[in-house]
Amino acid sequence: MIDLSCKYLGLKLKNPLVVGSSGLTSSVEKLKAIDKMDPGAIVLKSIFEEQIKYEADKFLQSDHPGMTSWNEAFQGIVNKTEFYYDEAFDYLTSYAKEHTLNQYLGLIAEAKKVISVPVIASINCSTRYDWQYFAKRIQDAGADALELNVYLLPSDFEKNGIDNENVYFDIIKEVKKYITIPVSLKTGYYFSSVAQTLLRLSETGISGLTLFNRPYNPDIEIETLHVSASNMFSTESEYSHSLRWVALLAGKIKCDIAASTGIHNHETVIKQLLAGADAVQLVSVFYKQHPHTFDIIPVIIRGMEEWMIRHKFNSISDFKGMLSRKNVQNPASYERVQFLRLFSSIE
Ligand SMILES: Cc1cc2nc3c(=O)[nH]c(=O)nc-3n(C[C@H](O)[C@H](O)[C@H](O)COP(=O)(O)O)c2cc1C
Repeated sequence: MIDLSCKYLGLKLKNPLVVGSSGLTSSVEKLKAIDKMDPGAIVLKSIFEEQIKYEADKFLQSDHPGMTSWNEAFQGIVNKTEFYYDEAFDYLTSYAKEHTLNQYLGLIAEAKKVISVPVIASINCSTRYDWQYFAKRIQDAGADALELNVYLLPSDFEKNGIDNENVYFDIIKEVKKYITIPVSLKTGYYFSSVAQTLLRLSETGISGLTLFNRPYNPDIEIETLHVSASNMFSTESEYSHSLRWVALLAGKIKCDIAASTGIHNHETVIKQLLAGADAVQLVSVFYKQHPHTFDIIPVIIRGMEEWMIRHKFNSISDFKGMLSRKNVQNPASYERVQFLRLFSSIE
């Protein structure tokens, strides 16, 4: 009897397939369709800082027609001295947070009623200020865990590596003050010392790291001379970057690891588990089905089971981390020396 159950963020999952955060996890109807396919857990669409501003926009446009942007509206209010600056700021931001959050809280509460698997809420943020408010309410709404997607592109010439890295630590510290549900951090890899920074982050009391964010990348249209967005969806060959870091970090850091990006089939799921991932997150693979369906989940599960039977593994723990850097005979295979060997052998 094959047992795919596992533990992730302290939650018991029936399998390690986590449906990652995206527009596909933004409504109860979609969540129900996902749940029917029996994943291990679902991460809800993130609530974004930008959404908060958008909500404030809507509020201002209804009460202050003619104003078009949050900043403009806010500036207008300040200039007209309708409110004293601080009061206006507090009023707007608390209104905006409340309104956006209420919808999000409704989604969590409803999901918890109808979804059988753990529901992980998500906040996408890039600043260290004022997030505890959201986190506490999200916990109260019933979320099983919270994934913090800290999307920080270190492109500010005024900030050094420590300034940028401190943002991650400060966000976690603030959020952890207010909630007791497990917190995971979905992060990028723009750190001056990836291994050490991720190790230190894992020691902050978070329960998991999701490796990695797939950053939005720009492209350039050479005929129209425009900057555009490059591929929004991953391809199935994009998994090796996270595979390397999962393998390097597994067994070394102090929290769980969810592998993310380019995981489209059972082979890649197995590779990530062999490298040491506790769970995997999938998104693009669902978008690539037309219409967007989730029946690839049972297909992946069957593929995993068949592979486990062939290799005489009964449970995930029989092989998880077997090929992490810590456990392989030749740890250099994940390091620079492999590059030297491979590239110098090609004429
Ligand atoms: C349309 C779309 C919307 C997304 N929205 C979110 C989001 O709200 N929050 C988040 O953390 N990640 C979001 N992501 C990123 C995914 O969760 C995931 O990290 C990324 O797509 C890489 O995984 P994949 O290769 O399986 O697609 C989104 C991705 C796509 C394609």
